[in-house]
Amino acid sequence: MTYHIFQSLFVFGITTGVAISAVVQFLYYTFSGPSPDEVAFLPSPAIEAQQDVPKSNSRAAIQRLEDQFYVSTVQLQDMVKLFVHDMQRGLKRENALIKMLPSYVTKRPTGNERGTYLALDLGGTNFRVCEVTFATGQVRTKQRKFTVSDELKTGPGHLLFDFFADCVALFLDENGIPRDTNMKLGFTFSFPCHQEALNRGRLIRWTKGFTASGVVGEDVVKLLQDAFHRKGLSINVTALVNDTVGTLISHAYIDPLTQAGIILGTGSNAAYVERISEIKKWDGPKSASNEMVINMEWGNWGSDKIALPLTAYDLKVDRASPNPGQQLYEKMISGMYLGEITRYIMLDLISTGELFRGQRSVELEKPYNFDTANMSRIERDHTTDMSDTNMLLKTVYNIDSTLKDRRNLKQICQLVSTRAARLAAVGISAIVTKTNRLNGATVGIDGSVYEHYQHFGNHVKDALRELLGMVAQNVTLAQGEFLRCDG
Ligand code: BGC
Repeated sequence: MTYHIFQSLFVFGITTGVAISAVVQFLYYTFSGPSPDEVAFLPSPAIEAQQDVPKSNSRAAIQRLEDQFYVSTVQLQDMVKLFVHDMQRGLKRENALIKMLPSYVTKRPTGNERGTYLALDLGGTNFRVCEVTFATGQVRTKQRKFTVSDELKTGPGHLLFDFFADCVALFLDENGIPRDTNMKLGFTFSFPCHQEALNRGRLIRWTKGFTASGVVGEDVVKLLQDAFHRKGLSINVTALVNDTVGTLISHAYIDPLTQAGIILGTGSNAAYVERISEIKKWDGPKSASNEMVINMEWGNWGSDKIALPLTAYDLKVDRASPNPGQQLYEKMISGMYLGEITRYIMLDLISTGELFRGQRSVELEKPYNFDTANMSRIERDHTTDMSDTNMLLKTVYNIDSTLKDRRNLKQICQLVSTRAARLAAVGISAIVTKTNRLNGATVGIDGSVYEHYQHFGNHVKDALRELLGMVAQNVTLAQGEFLRCDG
């Protein structure tokens, strides 16, 4: 609603004068109601500048966006310091910005593990059921992927867990495994959980568009076990792990020196190996091991709106999300949101006549209807007339574009994705710095954005070099799916 007010003020020709611009800003801030902290991060000079820009001056629009989205080396360095500080806070107390959740995983695999297990992986829209067999020198997996509908994501929680149990029953039947198998099952559940044991964890909050009721605050292993019971399945859920912990473990199976696991996909997060003596808040059982994997839940970093270079577009994405004020770092770096930031930029430039000569598109006005995959596709379009982008805009969004529009759009995508990659490097650099692994660390990275978004990985590496200098060459970013069941 407020967004439309903002847009229409421009559409109806309020184009000149500092005074009018101040009124526009006043109206915008009044209706959208950011806190004083937020105002400090709104790009007010850029918005003011917008008043003076002739409608067709798309170059000025791109320049304005560059000013907002470029993050300098010095800014990155400052962010790393704050990030390390916030990691330390999270290790000391509950409910810090970065939660730093003990995972109860105290050992990394040795590569000598044997046996057959079931594994479930709920990451976002995909739910996977796998059977994994560790045999001498090899790992065999059978798997099946299911789609979690929006109704299940946002409906009553027991239906979501019934769905998981139904998928497992189908998988067992298809593979000739009896329903009373008594097999052990590991549950990769990619949401923040306060673990109370390796096989017990309460959901702290949903992320990535999930809002299913009756789950927050509950032990998700019990909810799953109860659903199995309702469906007559005899399976023992013996481990609950975050996907980042799973990534760390699976990379460590190949390279035992792996120190961290990172996901840059629909959502984003990291886990790393920490010394138990550093986890000041730890009051769990003593372990023979002196280290534990910490699920950082780094996506919530910056939600105090102090550290991150938030633009007005980021704040719009946040305000319209199901979890406003939370996961702000995730909202700037992960796949669920990059397309949405870009969509807001496009709508803004359409409203000022600086893109597509002001042509509106019903499809583009639908929330979350510009996928991050589109951005990657546009950046990859190296044809002289950007014909693939032309086709995308025409067929999906019914937009007629000029070559200049398409080139501008490509630049917009580059600005948003490069900023994301550079900000992701802040978190990686903070882990390496905090754990004092500057002389050598392997970090396992998985997730659709890192794997499929062209050049994303290179931008992360460039930023790491800016942050760590020569030391960056000691940090190996290892990519690849090993034991996660994402076939
Ligand atoms: C969740 C994390 C998860 C990450 C990547 C975030 O939204 O909070 O638990 O690891 O997404 O899937």
